[in-house]
Amino acid sequence: MSNAIRRIAISTGGGDAPGLNAVIRAVVIAASNRGWECYGIREGFNGILFPERFPEGGVFRLTRDRVRGIGHLGGTILGTTNKGNPLHFPMKMPDGSVKEVDRTDEILECFARKELDALVSIGGDGSLTIAHALSKRGLRVVGVPKTIDNDLDKTYTTFGFDTAVGFATECLDRLHSTAESHQRVFVVEVMGRYAGWIALNSGISGSAHAILIPEIPFDLDKVAAKIRSRDQVGRMYSLVVVAEGANPAHGHRSVLEQAEIGHAERLGGVGEWVAKELQARTGKDARVVVLGHLLRGGSPTSFDRLAALRFGTAAVRALDEGQNGIMVALALAGVNYVPLEEVAGRMKAVPLDCDTLQTGRDLGIAFGD
Ligand code: F6P
Repeated sequence: MSNAIRRIAISTGGGDAPGLNAVIRAVVIAASNRGWECYGIREGFNGILFPERFPEGGVFRLTRDRVRGIGHLGGTILGTTNKGNPLHFPMKMPDGSVKEVDRTDEILECFARKELDALVSIGGDGSLTIAHALSKRGLRVVGVPKTIDNDLDKTYTTFGFDTAVGFATECLDRLHSTAESHQRVFVVEVMGRYAGWIALNSGISGSAHAILIPEIPFDLDKVAAKIRSRDQVGRMYSLVVVAEGANPAHGHRSVLEQAEIGHAERLGGVGEWVAKELQARTGKDARVVVLGHLLRGGSPTSFDRLAALRFGTAAVRALDEGQNGIMVALALAGVNYVPLEEVAGRMKAVPLDCDTLQTGRDLGIAFGD
């Protein structure tokens, strides 16, 4: 099977995450060492769907020289997008309405025309769902799990997560002193749409006093009680970490923009609301810090870099072994192959009985429940 491969393409889709460039570098080097040629597709699949936007080529050759010195850089040299999923592409009709169309045939035709034998698709749930659909339509595909949110199932972790948690933890470390000096409540909003991994791990590591995650609908009276109980013993400040997708037990997620054909809803604003409500309930000065896209930037930590390099080389090995329709997944003792159908469309939430959550509870952190 391995000798069938001569040319492969790489695509990065969804929100960027530190480590994407390290995966690209690993794939190109491992593939080149097997005598394969590599090509990059720009901005998810836009390089194929909108070639006219890329005068220098929507699909372009990735040589070893092109990937030299990129392993430590954030972002992706291919560009990425979280709009315009080719399975549900928003197409404007002559009457002004928007219709959903499936444009995967154009991708398959491009692969055939350019004699590309396989795709390494690096992305989160959206990209892996597209990868799964393409593999079911006959394309040889291997997926690589990416998301700072760590919400992909069947892999111990995703690259980008450790960098995001490390940065959020450092921000919490810095906020302790100013919060204590001013006897304030600080609410720190972090990314995490439907899974609270970043909030949970950074909140515990950064000694937050309350952590609000999407998996546990919260009651702000309980959080206010926690803040008051700290005040009573002379701890006159509190740090609350809230995931952007957390919601009150009797309320909704804070949605900035509703989902549309081709892209997911945009969340945000819960931190501001929590700070305002806690100020009203406790009478204490409250401030909010939204870490947002800062969590996606910067150089990947060595953990993420190593995970990315392991994933990239494993993807090439998997193709060489004749694997298809799988995602390379990190296990504690190695890298596994898991069928894409076991990953696509599923989300890994924080299990309510997990040890990390229990750690937070044993440390006395309030979860608003
Ligand atoms: O990658 C997922 C994520 O980090 C979410 O936590 C967040 O809601 C989303 O990206 C924001 O993406 P953007 O603002 O780029 O559309």
